[in-house]
Amino acid sequence: MRFLAVSAVTGVISWFVLSGLILSVAPVVTLPLLPRAARAARRLAAFERRHTGEFLRTPIASPQPLDGDDIGAVLTSPETRRDVSWLTLQAMLGMPAGMVAIAAPAGVVQNVATAALWPYLPGVTTTLDHPVESWRDAAVALATAVAYGAVAFLVPPLARWYARISAVRLAPRKISLAERLAEVTATRAAALEAHGTELRRIERNLHDGTQNRLVAVVMHLGMVERALRRDPGSALPMVLTAQNAATDALSELREVVRGIYPPVLIDRGLPGAVSALVSHCAIPATYEVRDLPRAPAAVEAAAYFVVAEALTNAVKHSGARRITVVLHADDGLLTVEVTDDGQGGADETRGTGLLGIERRVAAFDGTTLLHSPRGGPTVLRAAIPLGV
Ligand SMILES: Nc1ncnc2c1ncn2[C@@H]1O[C@H](COP(=O)(O)OP(=O)(O)OP(=O)(O)O)[C@@H](O)[C@H]1O
Ligand SMILES: [Mg+2]
Repeated sequence: MRFLAVSAVTGVISWFVLSGLILSVAPVVTLPLLPRAARAARRLAAFERRHTGEFLRTPIASPQPLDGDDIGAVLTSPETRRDVSWLTLQAMLGMPAGMVAIAAPAGVVQNVATAALWPYLPGVTTTLDHPVESWRDAAVALATAVAYGAVAFLVPPLARWYARISAVRLAPRKISLAERLAEVTATRAAALEAHGTELRRIERNLHDGTQNRLVAVVMHLGMVERALRRDPGSALPMVLTAQNAATDALSELREVVRGIYPPVLIDRGLPGAVSALVSHCAIPATYEVRDLPRAPAAVEAAAYFVVAEALTNAVKHSGARRITVVLHADDGLLTVEVTDDGQGGADETRGTGLLGIERRVAAFDGTTLLHSPRGGPTVLRAAIPLGV
């Protein structure tokens, strides 16, 4: 009953949203309002998706969120068509179905009460407007209650049927094999690109850092050799300098190794490693981790780097006062979400960090979502298939 009662409420809201959508398209001058109306529809559908998914105990996948104000993209998006198809269903059937669910048990209670209390309530009628003035009328009221009871028995199957037809319209469009292939080809290219970038980064770090330090060690050892030939006593400070240069080279090398696969991930697993990142963050951050199984090392490393970059960005650019990090696994997907209450306006075209995250995640066939309106908050969410 609760499910259908909530559907009645969303049914009424659907009317308004659907009317908003129609009103923003019909008179052409109001077209700029369309993306806003479409986003409202998407939000309502998202609520109903959660609600119906909980009722059916089968989560319904969400479509891509609608970002940007491109009217053409909104109009031609198949997802918008699906939203409108669901809204129409909900606006037409949500309210009546909800009314049945509420009216049936209410009818039972009211008619039973009428049958029992009619001697004290002059002028009382059954819910079907039959006046109750004798015990015979009371029997009619009881029969009406039984009829309402029979309808009430139909409410659970009605709710299940309604949830199922809603779920079909709420689920994102199934993509064709050709589209999937195009997607896989694109992510494979992204994987190769990410791999190439990673190799170049390691090569640069080794070249600019470690190699230079080792050149310094060799140079100092050369000076030591010459000093030993000329004046062995003066060689000691040079040996110490060479030793320092070797120590520097070693720590530089450690940094590079750390960048390839953070050792903290081996020691403490993803939850522990992220917890270490969060506790070292310059802005107060809360951290929540739910049902996290161990994932393949590469997936954990990708998730770790997502959090690391998102936290660095929040500290560098957002001016936030609070950060929230959530890690959870659901439906074979490892989801990382970092939210900051800062000024927003993150834009992946203005740097390499966010783009790098997107590529890294796409390489595992995952998705990244950046939501950062001006004025904040900023949410960066990455979902990576666990692949196990
Ligand atoms: N959490 C945030 N809040 C506000 N603005 C942000 C946030 N994250 C990123 N930005 C903005 O988006 C831009 C792009 O971020 P990105 O991480 O790609 O690059 P970056 O941090 O500037 O440099 P790097 O390549 O070192 O990461 C930033 O320059 C910044 O202006
Ligand atoms: Mg950055």
